[in-house]
Amino acid sequence: MEYVNFILCVAIVIMARSFGVSFKTVSGGPIFVSEMSMDSVYKGSKFSNDKDYMQKRQLFIDTEAQERVGGEIVMNLDEKALNNRILAMKKKEYDAAHYQGGSFAPQINFLQSKPLYEKSDIFKLIQKMPKGGALHLHDVSITDVNWLVGNVTYRDHCYMCNDVNANDSIVFHFFQNPPSNPGCPWKLVNDVRAKSNNVTAFDQMLLESMVMTPELADADINVIWKAFTGALTRADGLISYRSVFRDYFYEALTEFQADNVQYIELRAVFPGVINTDK
Ligand SMILES: *[C@@H]1O[C@H](CO)[C@@H](O)[C@H](O)[C@H]1NC(C)=O
Ligand SMILES: *[C@@H]1O[C@H](CO)[C@@H](O)[C@H](O)[C@H]1NC(C)=O
Ligand SMILES: *[C@@H]1O[C@H](CO)[C@@H](O)[C@H](O)[C@H]1NC(C)=O
Repeated sequence: MEYVNFILCVAIVIMARSFGVSFKTVSGGPIFVSEMSMDSVYKGSKFSNDKDYMQKRQLFIDTEAQERVGGEIVMNLDEKALNNRILAMKKKEYDAAHYQGGSFAPQINFLQSKPLYEKSDIFKLIQKMPKGGALHLHDVSITDVNWLVGNVTYRDHCYMCNDVNANDSIVFHFFQNPPSNPGCPWKLVNDVRAKSNNVTAFDQMLLESMVMTPELADADINVIWKAFTGALTRADGLISYRSVFRDYFYEALTEFQADNVQYIELRAVFPGVINTDK
């Protein structure tokens, strides 16, 4: 629809220009202001007057709209009511951004705008609605990182170390008995957490080691890529443990089901999983 409107605007501009009509631009887009009788504008064209032009324009828009996916579906009264509600919600969010100086999430880097989507009313409504597939998912990034931190890092045998050769970045691993690891000595996560003076801040630090933080939106591509692969590698250290692996996928499916997703397409390399019981 936006595309059709754009083409029409361009067509109107070209048509009006060739008839010597002057333009004024307002925030809503270009409009034209006639300096002569509109009837003379239509002389020799296939439209006889404004009303005729607007009718044909609407017919063109409606015909184009019908060509789109779902364009021929006739909505029942309930569907129409829901459709009107969704469009009203969408317009409210557009208007808040365009006319009331609010933030428009699609205009902002996703690393910074994610909380805006999460508070959006229309997002909350769409979240509940049935949807098709979630495509091109990767095995190491399908489950809420809050679950990894709040559940997996609290489990027995979960170890972490701070790699002195990589800016003290965190590495996770499950062991029955951790080997000696100079440069990155293994410690039980639960011990480190107990010794930290603020558990909330400690868990937040673990979480941030496995996500792309908002500050990265301003970083260069190399820094971003390094943070990205680092986050996935750290999460993999938690996931590739047999009993976690099973719960992790179950949790992922539970989360997608809660979002009313009908099926997922998962890309997995299936690295071996470790089993500390053996
Ligand atoms: C962790 O997840 C498992 C499997 O989903 C669940 O049984 C268990 O209660 C959870 N533990 C905590 C501490 O949330
Ligand atoms: C460690 O961090 C500093 C400052 O953030 C950075 O300049 C340096 O490249 C990092 N070194 C490694 C090995 O990642
Ligand atoms: C603990 O850390 C959290 C998150 O950083 C912070 O909001 C909270 O004020 C801290 N609590 C104390 C007692 O310092």
